Amino acid sequence: MAPHAVVVAGAGQAGLETAAALRARGYTGRVTLVGDEPPGPCHRPPLSKGYLTGAVPAEDVPLRPASFYAEQDVELLTGTTVVSVDRERHTVLLESGLRLPYGALVLATGCRPRPLPVPGASLHGVRTLRGLADAEVLRRALQGPPLRLVVVGAGFVGLEVAATARGLGHEVTVVETQPRALTRALTPAVSERIVAEHRAQGVRVLTGRQVAVLHGDDRERVRAVELADGERIGADLVVVGIGVLPNTEPARAAGLAVDDGVLVDAGLRTADPDVWAVGDCASFPEPRTGRRMRLESVQNATDQARCVAAAICGEPHPYTAVPRFWTEQYALRVQMAGLTSGHDETVTVGDVAGGRFSVLCFREGRLIGVESVNRPADHGITARLLAAGTALSPAAAREPGFDLKKLPRAPHS
Ligand code: APR
Repeated sequence: MAPHAVVVAGAGQAGLETAAALRARGYTGRVTLVGDEPPGPCHRPPLSKGYLTGAVPAEDVPLRPASFYAEQDVELLTGTTVVSVDRERHTVLLESGLRLPYGALVLATGCRPRPLPVPGASLHGVRTLRGLADAEVLRRALQGPPLRLVVVGAGFVGLEVAATARGLGHEVTVVETQPRALTRALTPAVSERIVAEHRAQGVRVLTGRQVAVLHGDDRERVRAVELADGERIGADLVVVGIGVLPNTEPARAAGLAVDDGVLVDAGLRTADPDVWAVGDCASFPEPRTGRRMRLESVQNATDQARCVAAAICGEPHPYTAVPRFWTEQYALRVQMAGLTSGHDETVTVGDVAGGRFSVLCFREGRLIGVESVNRPADHGITARLLAAGTALSPAAAREPGFDLKKLPRAPHS
């Protein structure tokens, strides 16, 4: 029997999609969505891109119009968080003092930016980017007169902000500790293509370099970034994008197991049968790699939310969606399907010189993922191949005249 009430802790993409999927399945009990970010659930991808330039106006940022909540009978409580969970009594306590009963509890608490662990990191003008409030501060700064911007971290957030700021005419330097950009997410061929574009656009990208200290003026405003090798880079604004940490406090307070995320099983359920976790905060056994991981993406948040809504409505099934990610920088649209880390062989198809290509990644002769630069069709086809488990060998991909589009059509995922 479906529970009488569902409380969703966290009103990001995963939380909102859980509430929406419950109603889409016909769930009629009470649904309460609790989130600390005042405007309610927002699209995050534009916050490091079009929202900063003004191309995406503020009214396009909410994930659903305000009318959605009344129409779907979803109670949205913003400006507060779940601070504790009484699993015996099946209640949660909010920071606001409100206590809510639940039959099912979904933890969709997301992540927060990892703070930069150096002196000066709390100076004015040193910012991280996660929610709309952060983006609003950056938008105002970047829409003003030219600035010297230093971005710390060459991951998705850092490089997207760098590209956007450069497009707005600011002087931009990126500092990355690893020997190359985007090590966590992308193969060298694709990360090199992205960095080459940044350099062509006039961004200084420094890899293998450490930030040692941030210096401020007498009004505590950041003025320079000093690297471990002594170089000083003048800065009016510093954006830190060095990864995220999962918000596991409510799970921990509830006595649930946590490591780099809230531990859940293949159906996204914690050890408590009435508590699930979804989205960026959930550490789950990924079926294709067999490894426990967290995935930070819109696709993962949406698909995990649907999986948990099904389980709450009495149709549990393992979570098996093919991971998909994307980033946009300048005219580059980079899309990823599957998980490419751990590959032992790659085959590149398409036109590398012309900037339209895909890197197919294999492990032990099996396709495990693909990264596509301005080749959206390759992305769609490979995602379907991966979902269907269709065999594709590196040798076949190397055949002259090989064309992903000519492979036998796999069913849509
Ligand atoms: N100084 C410089 N670079 C650092 C430091 C440091 N002290 N510490 C880490 N880095 C680098 C990492 O090596 C990595 O290249 O910062 C980068 C962080 O990249 P990501 O892990 O991709 O994290 P981030 O870009 O912050 O994105 C966080 O938000 O939109 C989402 O998809 C995005 O899920 C991701 C999340």
